Amino acid sequence: MLYRLIYASEAAGDLTPDSVQALLDNARRRNRLRDISGMLVFDSRYFLQVIEGDRQVLSDLYGKLVQDTRHKRLLLIGFEPIVHRTFSDWSMGFAAADAQRRRLYLRHGLSARFEPHSLNATSALALLTELSQGAELEAEN
Ligand SMILES: Cc1cc2nc3c(=O)[nH]c(=O)nc-3n(C[C@H](O)[C@H](O)[C@H](O)COP(=O)(O)O)c2cc1C
Repeated sequence: MLYRLIYASEAAGDLTPDSVQALLDNARRRNRLRDISGMLVFDSRYFLQVIEGDRQVLSDLYGKLVQDTRHKRLLLIGFEPIVHRTFSDWSMGFAAADAQRRRLYLRHGLSARFEPHSLNATSALALLTELSQGAELEAEN
Protein backbone atom coordinates (compact mmCIF):
# COMPACT_ATOMS: atom_id res chain seq x y z
CA MET A 1 0.00 0.00 0.00
CA LEU A 2 1.32 3.41 -1.04
CA TYR A 3 2.16 5.76 1.85
CA ARG A 4 3.77 9.14 2.40
CA LEU A 5 6.03 9.87 5.36
CA ILE A 6 7.21 13.37 6.33
CA TYR A 7 9.67 14.20 9.10
CA ALA A 8 11.85 17.05 10.30
CA SER A 9 15.28 16.74 11.91
CA GLU A 10 18.32 18.77 12.89
CA ALA A 11 21.86 18.17 11.61
CA ALA A 12 24.00 16.67 14.39
CA GLY A 13 27.13 18.58 13.43
CA ASP A 14 28.52 20.58 10.58
CA LEU A 15 27.63 18.92 7.32
CA THR A 16 29.81 20.05 4.44
CA PRO A 17 28.31 20.41 0.94
CA ASP A 18 30.33 17.34 -0.03
CA SER A 19 28.87 15.22 2.74
CA VAL A 20 25.34 16.35 1.85
CA GLN A 21 26.05 15.43 -1.77
CA ALA A 22 27.31 12.01 -0.70
CA LEU A 23 24.24 11.51 1.46
CA LEU A 24 22.03 12.39 -1.52
CA ASP A 25 23.87 10.14 -3.98
CA ASN A 26 23.54 7.23 -1.61
CA ALA A 27 19.88 7.95 -0.81
CA ARG A 28 19.02 8.17 -4.52
CA ARG A 29 20.70 4.88 -5.30
CA ARG A 30 19.01 3.10 -2.41
CA ASN A 31 15.61 4.67 -3.08
CA ARG A 32 15.63 3.60 -6.73
CA LEU A 33 16.09 0.00 -5.61
CA ARG A 34 13.13 0.29 -3.23
CA ASP A 35 10.79 2.33 -5.46
CA ILE A 36 10.92 5.26 -3.04
CA SER A 37 10.44 8.81 -4.31
CA GLY A 38 10.74 12.03 -2.35
CA MET A 39 12.25 15.36 -1.61
CA LEU A 40 14.82 16.63 0.89
CA VAL A 41 15.18 20.25 2.01
CA PHE A 42 18.16 21.43 4.03
CA ASP A 43 19.19 24.88 5.26
CA SER A 44 22.55 23.89 6.82
CA ARG A 45 20.83 23.24 10.16
CA TYR A 46 17.41 21.62 9.65
CA PHE A 47 16.17 18.88 7.37
CA LEU A 48 12.64 18.41 6.08
CA GLN A 49 12.10 15.23 4.08
CA VAL A 50 9.19 13.49 2.42
CA ILE A 51 9.38 9.89 1.23
CA GLU A 52 6.74 8.00 -0.75
CA GLY A 53 6.51 4.26 -1.28
CA ASP A 54 5.36 0.98 0.21
CA ARG A 55 4.27 1.32 3.84
CA GLN A 56 6.62 -1.33 5.25
CA VAL A 57 9.55 -0.08 3.14
CA LEU A 58 9.03 3.47 4.45
CA SER A 59 8.75 2.28 8.02
CA ASP A 60 12.00 0.30 7.66
CA LEU A 61 13.77 3.37 6.23
CA TYR A 62 12.46 5.56 9.04
CA GLY A 63 13.94 3.06 11.50
CA LYS A 64 17.33 3.59 9.81
CA LEU A 65 16.90 7.36 9.73
CA VAL A 66 16.22 7.47 13.47
CA GLN A 67 19.52 5.65 14.07
CA ASP A 68 21.54 7.81 11.68
CA THR A 69 23.94 9.92 13.77
CA ARG A 70 24.21 12.65 11.09
CA HIS A 71 20.98 14.13 12.40
CA LYS A 72 18.98 14.29 15.63
CA ARG A 73 15.62 15.49 17.02
CA LEU A 74 13.65 13.53 14.44
CA LEU A 75 10.01 14.56 14.49
CA LEU A 76 7.49 12.46 12.59
CA ILE A 77 5.17 14.99 10.97
CA GLY A 78 2.98 12.70 8.88
CA PHE A 79 2.54 9.06 7.84
CA GLU A 80 -0.55 8.36 5.81
CA PRO A 81 -1.88 6.43 2.81
CA ILE A 82 -1.90 8.21 -0.54
CA VAL A 83 -3.45 7.43 -3.91
CA HIS A 84 -0.82 9.09 -6.10
CA ARG A 85 2.78 10.10 -5.64
CA THR A 86 3.52 13.83 -5.60
CA PHE A 87 7.29 13.42 -6.09
CA SER A 88 7.38 10.58 -8.62
CA ASP A 89 10.00 12.41 -10.70
CA TRP A 90 12.64 12.18 -7.98
CA SER A 91 14.25 9.27 -6.16
CA MET A 92 15.27 12.16 -3.87
CA GLY A 93 14.88 15.73 -5.04
CA PHE A 94 16.89 18.35 -3.19
CA ALA A 95 16.40 22.02 -2.45
CA ALA A 96 18.47 24.31 -0.27
CA ALA A 97 16.33 26.38 2.08
CA ASP A 98 17.77 29.86 2.26
CA ALA A 99 16.86 33.31 3.47
CA GLN A 100 15.73 34.36 0.02
CA ARG A 101 12.73 32.11 0.44
CA ARG A 102 11.39 34.02 3.47
CA ARG A 103 8.09 34.83 1.80
CA LEU A 104 7.56 31.18 0.96
CA TYR A 105 8.06 30.18 4.62
CA LEU A 106 5.69 32.85 5.81
CA ARG A 107 3.06 31.70 3.35
CA HIS A 108 3.29 28.16 4.70
CA GLY A 109 2.86 29.10 8.34
CA LEU A 110 6.50 29.40 9.38
CA SER A 111 8.18 32.48 10.72
CA ALA A 112 10.61 34.06 8.28
CA ARG A 113 13.04 31.25 9.13
CA PHE A 114 13.09 27.65 8.03
CA GLU A 115 12.08 25.85 11.23
CA PRO A 116 10.37 22.69 10.01
CA HIS A 117 9.64 21.27 13.48
CA SER A 118 6.70 23.66 13.78
CA LEU A 119 4.99 22.50 10.56
CA ASN A 120 1.89 20.34 10.44
CA ALA A 121 1.58 17.67 7.74
CA THR A 122 -0.54 19.81 5.41
CA SER A 123 1.80 22.81 5.52
CA ALA A 124 4.89 20.63 5.26
CA LEU A 125 3.55 18.92 2.13
CA ALA A 126 2.59 22.25 0.56
CA LEU A 127 6.04 23.69 1.27
CA LEU A 128 7.84 20.59 -0.06
CA THR A 129 5.68 20.58 -3.18
CA GLU A 130 6.39 24.21 -3.87
CA LEU A 131 10.11 23.76 -3.28
CA SER A 132 10.13 20.75 -5.62
CA GLN A 133 8.85 23.01 -8.38
CA GLY A 134 11.46 25.65 -7.63
CA ALA A 135 13.95 26.63 -10.27
CA GLU A 136 16.86 25.68 -8.06
CA LEU A 137 15.90 22.06 -7.78
CA GLU A 138 19.04 20.15 -8.49
CA ALA A 139 18.89 17.79 -11.42
CA GLU A 140 19.21 14.09 -10.71
CA ASN A 141 21.48 12.03 -12.79
C1 LIG B 1 18.82 13.66 6.32
C2 LIG B 1 19.02 12.25 5.85
C3 LIG B 1 18.24 11.78 4.80
C4 LIG B 1 18.40 10.46 4.35
N1 LIG B 1 17.60 10.01 3.33
C5 LIG B 1 17.70 8.72 2.93
C6 LIG B 1 16.86 8.21 1.90
O1 LIG B 1 16.03 8.91 1.31
N2 LIG B 1 17.02 6.90 1.57
C7 LIG B 1 17.94 6.09 2.15
O2 LIG B 1 18.03 4.92 1.79
N3 LIG B 1 18.75 6.55 3.11
C8 LIG B 1 18.65 7.84 3.52
N4 LIG B 1 19.49 8.30 4.50
C9 LIG B 1 20.51 7.39 5.05
C10 LIG B 1 19.95 6.43 6.07
O3 LIG B 1 19.83 7.08 7.32
C11 LIG B 1 20.89 5.20 6.22
O4 LIG B 1 22.21 5.64 6.40
C12 LIG B 1 20.85 4.34 4.99
O5 LIG B 1 19.55 3.93 4.76
C13 LIG B 1 21.78 3.12 5.10
O6 LIG B 1 21.53 2.45 6.27
P1 LIG B 1 22.37 1.12 6.66
O7 LIG B 1 23.78 1.42 6.33
O8 LIG B 1 22.10 0.91 8.11
O9 LIG B 1 21.81 0.03 5.82
C14 LIG B 1 19.36 9.62 4.95
C15 LIG B 1 20.13 10.12 6.01
C16 LIG B 1 19.98 11.42 6.44
C17 LIG B 1 20.83 11.92 7.58
